[in-house]
Amino acid sequence: MTGLNVVIVGSGVIARTHAGAILRHPDLRLVALADPDPQANDRLAGWVGEQGAPTPARYASLGEALAAEAADLVVVCTPSGTHADLAEEALAAGAHVLVEKPLDASLPAARRIARAAADAEAAGQVCAVICQHRFDPASVAVATRVRAGDLGRVTSAVASVPWWRGQRYYDSAGWRGTWAQDGGGATMNQGVHTVDLLVWLLGRPAEVFAYTGVLAHEGIEVEDVATATIRFTDGALAVLHATTAAYPGLGVRLQVHGSQGSAVLHDDQLEYLHTAGGPDPSAYADGPDQSGDAVPAAELRGAPKPDDAFVTGHLRQYHDTVDAIRAGRRPGVTAADALLDVAVVKAVYLSAHLHRPVSVPAVLAGDFDDVLATIESTAAAAAVPAQVAR
Ligand SMILES: NC(=O)c1ccc[n+]([C@@H]2O[C@H](COP(=O)([O-])OP(=O)(O)OC[C@H]3O[C@@H](n4cnc5c(N)ncnc54)[C@H](O)[C@@H]3O)[C@@H](O)[C@H]2O)c1
Repeated sequence: MTGLNVVIVGSGVIARTHAGAILRHPDLRLVALADPDPQANDRLAGWVGEQGAPTPARYASLGEALAAEAADLVVVCTPSGTHADLAEEALAAGAHVLVEKPLDASLPAARRIARAAADAEAAGQVCAVICQHRFDPASVAVATRVRAGDLGRVTSAVASVPWWRGQRYYDSAGWRGTWAQDGGGATMNQGVHTVDLLVWLLGRPAEVFAYTGVLAHEGIEVEDVATATIRFTDGALAVLHATTAAYPGLGVRLQVHGSQGSAVLHDDQLEYLHTAGGPDPSAYADGPDQSGDAVPAAELRGAPKPDDAFVTGHLRQYHDTVDAIRAGRRPGVTAADALLDVAVVKAVYLSAHLHRPVSVPAVLAGDFDDVLATIESTAAAAAVPAQVAR
């Protein structure tokens, strides 16, 4: 079996993590980079060479790379507003695709690529979307128990993404903090991972009620703090908090509670787990913490994380993607999954704008596309300093 030729499109910050994961995957060969910024290409190609791997070819666009290389897998690492177009281009050329999160900045574009991905899947192509935290051993341990009913009926969840991004982060690239290319702020860019885990663990989201604010940054079009309540179709309720205005930035925390158990993920590690089979939940009993039995010690809260933890996270999803390609099966995270995540995030923005609960299925179906377009174009035109935006 020969290895798969990989082309990375977008040679910026996250591309180095992908390159690191690709170099460590036995079935992948990084053959080319495509970025209109030659310095970005050179920096990444140089780093690849320093790792002792063959230097990838460099192109100014995905089109040029596809014309010159026999690409089996295209990895989309560009600003979020370009994901759908580039993924479609790669699928049309017959390649498998792995797209960075979120699926796209715009909901209509995300819907379009999800449709194209479904068509491509019928033709045997894989289109997966990076949601690397679904593959963390701690997340897998919790999901396995939720699916087995070991937490009883899942009743609620609390998710917090209390991060800090300084003004320099937003100033570091023109696309950050814009509606057109980032698609939103703390909820879309940073919080979407946790939205994905919430939806993965709690099921179909029905309705969202939210507030958003711009409180600690200047000149960005999007929110730096959001709070929301999400109601799921089977009745479970979740609280979501996402911010880039929580100095100095703390670990992401996700609590999932059920009628017979609870689980807590903190900073990608397992902090607490109690499942059915423990003391009778109808009595007032303190259930024992079973987290030590569920994951290796290195995945428990407080265990030191290796320096390469971020690459390892992506590598886990590469293993899933390559396995899906080889086995002709669906990947662990499909474009349809990622479309739902984008719809939930857009429901947060719609609810905050309309000051009322918003139906996620209606957002998904396109009923609010015109309102979203208005929010995004008006906020873009009116990007003003934080003290005025309040
Ligand atoms: N999974 C994660 O944990 C994670 C972490 C960081 C970023 N991301 C995602 O990765 C994406 C990129 O983020 P980043 O921080 O690396 O951005 P970045 O600005 O550092 O890099 C983006 C690169 O894409 C290039 N580019 C822009 N348009 C292009 C096009 N049409 N064709 C080819 N190249 C193009 C730019 O020149 C730049 O070099 C975003 O969607 C972001 O949400 C995911």
